[in-house]
Amino acid sequence: MKQLREDILQAIKNLGMETEVEEIPIERPNDPRFGDYSTNIAMTAAKKTGKNAPMLAGKIKNELELIVDKTNFIEKIETAGGFINFYLKTEYLVKKAEELNYQMEFANRMGKYGRGKTVVVDYSAPNIAKPFGIGHLRSTDIGQAIYNLYKFLGWKTIGDNHIGDWGTQFGKLIVAIKKWGEKPVEKMSIDDLEKLYVKFHQEAEKNPKLGDEGREWFAKLEGKDEEAREIWQKCIDLSKKEFDRVYSLLGVKIDQTLGESFYEGMLEGVIDELGEKGITKKSQGATIIEFEDMPPAMVKKSNGTTTYLTRDLATIHYRLNKWQPDLIVYEVGADQTLHFKQLFRISQKLGWTNKIRLVHVAHGLIRWPEGKFSTRKGDTIHLKEVIDKATEEAKRLAETSSVVKKLPVEEKEEVIKAVAIGGIKFSDLLADPRRDIIFDWEKIMSLEGDSGPYVQYTFARAKSVLEKTEVREQKNIEAPSGQINDDEIKLLKELAKFEDKIVEAAERFSPNVIAEHLIRVARTYNEFYAKNRIIGEKEEAWRVFLTHSSACCLETGLKLIGVTPVTRM
Ligand code: ARG
Repeated sequence: MKQLREDILQAIKNLGMETEVEEIPIERPNDPRFGDYSTNIAMTAAKKTGKNAPMLAGKIKNELELIVDKTNFIEKIETAGGFINFYLKTEYLVKKAEELNYQMEFANRMGKYGRGKTVVVDYSAPNIAKPFGIGHLRSTDIGQAIYNLYKFLGWKTIGDNHIGDWGTQFGKLIVAIKKWGEKPVEKMSIDDLEKLYVKFHQEAEKNPKLGDEGREWFAKLEGKDEEAREIWQKCIDLSKKEFDRVYSLLGVKIDQTLGESFYEGMLEGVIDELGEKGITKKSQGATIIEFEDMPPAMVKKSNGTTTYLTRDLATIHYRLNKWQPDLIVYEVGADQTLHFKQLFRISQKLGWTNKIRLVHVAHGLIRWPEGKFSTRKGDTIHLKEVIDKATEEAKRLAETSSVVKKLPVEEKEEVIKAVAIGGIKFSDLLADPRRDIIFDWEKIMSLEGDSGPYVQYTFARAKSVLEKTEVREQKNIEAPSGQINDDEIKLLKELAKFEDKIVEAAERFSPNVIAEHLIRVARTYNEFYAKNRIIGEKEEAWRVFLTHSSACCLETGLKLIGVTPVTRM
């Protein structure tokens, strides 16, 4: 892609069109009729200058033909209206497939993309004293995948779990514990805490005074009141234990867990700086920030306590000093869009982040047919229930597989776990993060396609082919000229896209680009497998090579999105 971009740029320069073209959009069309690559620059240039797009496309094509001739990876260039479509040479496709077979070398090369750059990924971030709900699952899965992608591309990557361990809700919780707690906090389960929290909200509807009590207790907590601190600390210990259990189940590891309370000592400094720079103003005893195009934000309430926003500002300040990131990515639900708009704007006004990029990847909701979940109403779906159900489904699936049935108990358990968790994660990652998704068990666990188990199953299938062959490592393989059939070409073309897909997924903060690609590779491999014999044929070596490349692509891709590849299924 890089080479092609350079070539197109050169052609544009040769034609003296630099001023007409701002950037060079290159696509990897899913429909093979539009080539392996496609660009619409002729159309954007035409729009800008009022010239005729197909004519411009033709001119650029002619110029390009002179240039790419020398770099020899393009087979032919065609125009279709204003589009310019590129077709890759088979030798080049083979080379790209071969690169996948050497996973270390491939990873080393990919690791050069982001060299010298640093990203902080803020993800997962569940709240203390509330169970790990399904809402935080998306943040965890998508955030981890984004983290993995950037790491793979060679960025210095810091994952930070900004857990909710501070704020008015702790005042509420303390009130609830003191009023209705039936046993000492350290003996409570996270479910007990949640019930108390829910009860607080039910009671507060009848008795508004409770809200004031909650705020008072949070003020006490911020004021270092001993009793408040003690209860709070116990809730933290209890919750963190539960989170760790969940993370180990999900196979997730987050570098840092600083959490909101970590910034306690830095909040006044932020509020002062905001004041000095004339960004805040007083309004009815509170300290607020006004915007022309958004509702006002609050950094200090009239009772002197700080807010979620104040803590997020301190967090940015800390991260900038500590890691000098080029990019901070927040994987947080779309319901916090306004919060992040305000946060980013304020940090801009403070002059902190003029040179770096802040991105909010605002994920949509997971829906059940019934609708949205909320802890307040007490109808949350807990992650545990979801994992239990997935495990049940994976067991049922295992019973239908003659391979899995015969596995030793331990391995069988592992496959079931990988399929259960993989199924959940994959379905979560297959949709664009910004869209809402609906949990549909049939789709999540379907072996027919568009699911984690389907990709895992295809990987296991490729692995079993590799186990059966005598063919060993093959370097500098040449395609059997004139004999490559359509299934093989299709497969080569999918495999050759992988590198670009990884880059695209990271650039767009969209792990779904990888998940979709894996589905296409799996589908194309399965078609190839169904129609072509491999073992014992004269093309055995060549088809084993294709199988090996496919397996490597699926393996690397699954790992990137945090799904465990399974070798026997
Ligand atoms: N704990 C918050 C919540 O559950 C998410 C925190 C996201 N990260 C951040 N820096 N604000 O809503």
